Amino acid sequence: MSIQHAIEALTTSPESVLPELLMLRGSDAETLRKEAYAVKKSMIGQTVYFRGIIELSNICDKNCFYCGIRRENHDLKRYLLTKDEVMAAAHFAHNARYGSIVLQAGEITSENFVAFVEEILHAIHTTFKGELGVTLSLGEQDEAVYQRWFDAGAHRYLLRIETTIEKNYRRLHPQDGHHEIAPRFECLNRLRRGGWQMGSGILIGYPEQSPEEFAQDLLFLKNCDVDMVGMGPFLPHHQTPMAQWTEYDPAVQLDKGLNAVACMRLMMPRINIASSTALQALHPRGRELGILAGANIIMPNITDTQYRESYQLYDGKPALNENAEESRHALEASILRTGETIGYGKWGDSRYFYDVHAPKKEHHE
Ligand code: 5AD
Ligand code: SF4
Repeated sequence: MSIQHAIEALTTSPESVLPELLMLRGSDAETLRKEAYAVKKSMIGQTVYFRGIIELSNICDKNCFYCGIRRENHDLKRYLLTKDEVMAAAHFAHNARYGSIVLQAGEITSENFVAFVEEILHAIHTTFKGELGVTLSLGEQDEAVYQRWFDAGAHRYLLRIETTIEKNYRRLHPQDGHHEIAPRFECLNRLRRGGWQMGSGILIGYPEQSPEEFAQDLLFLKNCDVDMVGMGPFLPHHQTPMAQWTEYDPAVQLDKGLNAVACMRLMMPRINIASSTALQALHPRGRELGILAGANIIMPNITDTQYRESYQLYDGKPALNENAEESRHALEASILRTGETIGYGKWGDSRYFYDVHAPKKEHHE
């Protein structure tokens, strides 16, 4: 089948062509990404939105085999930002006219933490009067907790499923009763029921993932009707059980990451797709390449640099020492080079969410 035919088939029978498209390299991969970028441009325009990411805490109850901040990594200083530190970062985002922030942390379910997040959300709402959109990325929580955070002013939530294939989920996570796939699916349902703009994502190209499995994972995101996608290629972290992988090839991981963005854009033209930091770890212009493959969201790190080295999910995470102000200029320049404009001061919500899940709500651009 020609590449053009395969791309066309993506909208009618994706399962038949996805395994092949996701593994493309070279000029066919370029064609795929160009096509996806053209679709992005015509369906949602040439604007990239920024979400300043605040890494609230690296404390995590979980122990995922691939992740550098897993509970059993004891070679790392654990921290929880103070409310003042979070607010200082939020002020930076507001002053820089980033339309939104993301609060991200390891998974913590204690009441103290839940109430702390709630307090921060109230403070953000009072201080910025709705001028900052708020995304949370705080893992699996009870329905009542999601509800409290929603009521306190957050409106988007990112919870990556990582993989939908049960046997692989078990390979990537310890079997200690705390890493089951079913509750994770249930959390996505909770978020959908709770009225959130719901985002998910997958771990792209983890060891021994077949092209068919990769395709199945990506298709899940379409089938569960996500409003937003945040996904990135697997990268080893030296202090994890998955540090050694003989097949690991950064160039292949980058290609898989960009192909996944492109296929996702072609399947769901109006959702928000992040150009992940992991892409940038693989290539100095990785995030730009992500935009040119169809992504429309960038999440610059605005956490104070003193905490950055304690939030290394994988080796080579970029901008370890660069403060938010320095990275802002580099990032702006790189986006403008792609020919895109930056949606300063705008929330940049998922258009798909308003089309399909909340047609009666007022659209916050
Ligand atoms: N490589 C790539 N992504 C990773 N994440 C965690 N560890 C890694 C890794 N080694 C991602 C997971 C998780 C998010 C917080 O970071 O997908 O959802
Ligand atoms: Fe915790 Fe998320 Fe890392 Fe798993 S991937 S150990 S849940 S921070």
